[in-house]
Amino acid sequence: MTTPTTFPDNFLWGGALAANQYEGAYDADGKGLSVQDVMPQGIVGPRTEAPTPDNLKLVGIDFYHRYKEDIALLAEMGFKVFRFSIAWSRIFPNGDETEPNEAGLAFYDRVLDELEKYGIEPLVTISHYETPLHLTKTYNGWADRRMIGFFERYARTLFERYGKRVKYWLTFNEINSVLHEPFMSGGINTPKEELSEQDLYQAIHHELVASASVTRIAHEVSPELQVGCMILAIPFYPLTPDPRDVWAAKQAERDNYTFGDVHVRGAYPGYFLRKLRDKGIELDITEADRRTLAEHTVDFVSFSYYMSSCETATQQREASGGNLMGGVVNPTLEVSQWGWAIDPRGLRTILNDYWDRWGKPLFIVENGLGARDELVTGPDGTPTVADDYRIDYMNDHLVQVREAIADGVQVIGYTSWGCIDCVSASTAQMSKRYGFIYVDRNDDGTGTLERYRKQSFGWYRDVIASNGASLKA
Ligand code: BG6
Repeated sequence: MTTPTTFPDNFLWGGALAANQYEGAYDADGKGLSVQDVMPQGIVGPRTEAPTPDNLKLVGIDFYHRYKEDIALLAEMGFKVFRFSIAWSRIFPNGDETEPNEAGLAFYDRVLDELEKYGIEPLVTISHYETPLHLTKTYNGWADRRMIGFFERYARTLFERYGKRVKYWLTFNEINSVLHEPFMSGGINTPKEELSEQDLYQAIHHELVASASVTRIAHEVSPELQVGCMILAIPFYPLTPDPRDVWAAKQAERDNYTFGDVHVRGAYPGYFLRKLRDKGIELDITEADRRTLAEHTVDFVSFSYYMSSCETATQQREASGGNLMGGVVNPTLEVSQWGWAIDPRGLRTILNDYWDRWGKPLFIVENGLGARDELVTGPDGTPTVADDYRIDYMNDHLVQVREAIADGVQVIGYTSWGCIDCVSASTAQMSKRYGFIYVDRNDDGTGTLERYRKQSFGWYRDVIASNGASLKA
C-alpha cells in the first residue's frame, strides 16, 4: 500500500470568523454589550467605560446586513464548512436573563438558511471572546461559579433552536488564552495585574466544568451533536539541547495541554495538580464537578495554529511576538509583519502530538497569515490583491496537514482564519488582514465596505475543488 497523498473524501474545507469581529450591528435588535464593545484597541490599549466611535468592531464588516452576499462568496469558493460564533449578548443581552431575545435567535436562523441553501455545514463557536459585559461587571465573569448556570441556559437555548441544523459545536474559543487575557477570554473584570492566581485558576475550573456540562446538554438534546473543545495551539521547542531548556519547553506546552487533557480525559493531570500545590492554590472542586468532567468528555479536539515558539531556562530571554502568548524568539524562523513566527512544520508536529496524546479526531479551526494588503486593479479591471505571500503561507501549512494525514492522524477539516477580512482580535485593526475577500474598510473607519476577491480566492477555490491535489509540495 502506498502512502495517501491526498485528503479524505469528506474533508471539511472552509473558513472561520467570530461574531464580534465581523457582524457589526453591535446594538441592533436588542443585542446587549459584550466585552469587545469596550475594547477599542483590542488587548494592546485601555478599555473604555462605554462603546466609543473609534471601536471598529461596532460596525465590523457589517455581516449582519450583508450576510447573503458574503455567504454567496464563500459558496463560490466551494466552502464545505463555515465556522462562526454566536454573539452571546444577541441571545441573552445581559447574560443572566431567563428568556432569550427572539430577534437575536432569528438572525442566526437566517444565516443558517443561507448556509443550507449552498450546502455549507455550519460549525458554531458558542463563546468566542464576547462575554456579555453585564456578566463581567456584575459577576466578574468566569471568576464566579454562577456563570456555569448562565452558560448552560445559553447553550441549551442554542442546541434546542439550531440542533437539527448544526452538528458541530465548539464550547470556548481558545480556552487556554484565559491564562493570558482574563478579560477578553474569561470576562474577568479584575485588572490582570491585580488578579490572583487563586481566582484565575478557579475561573478556569468554572469554564472547564461549564464546557463539560454543555457537552452533556448537547448530547441530551441530540446524540447526533458533536462537541469539541478549542485550544490555542503553540508547539514550544527547546531553544538549545540543554535538558533544562527541554524541560522549560515541556512546561510551557503543559500549560496548554492541561485544557485538552481535562476535556479529553475528564480529570486534571498530575503535573497540573502539582503546579497548584506548588503555588499554594486550593481550588473549590465539588464531587458533582468531578463527575461532570469525567462523564462528559469531548467528541473531538479543535485548535487554532498560527505559530510556534521556543523556551529556555538557560539563555537570555528574547521575548517573541505572538498570538496572545509566546515564548522566546526562534532564530531559525521568519516572522509575519506582526512578529508571529512562520512555521508550517509546527502544524504537522501539533497534529501528530495531539493525535498521539488524545486519539480524538482533530479539527484545525484557525490558521492564516495576518498581512497588510494593497488593493490593485486586476487584469479584468476589477480591484484585487496580489497576495502570493498568503497563498504561500497557506499552501505550505496545508502540505503539512496532508503529511500529518499520511502519518495516520485523523483530521476532520480545516477552516482558515478570517476568510473575509475582519477586525483583528489582538490589535483591533482592519489593516491586519487574513481574508480571501478584501473588505474596503480602513483603520480610521473610512471605506465603502465593498468586497473584492483577492488572488487567494481563486487559489483556495482550486484547492477545495481538487481536494488538495493542487497544493505544491
Ligand atoms: C485567534 C482568535 O487568537 O487568532 C481570533 O481566535 C483572532 O479571534 C485570530 O482574530 C488572529 O488574531 P489577530 O489578533 O491577528 O486577529
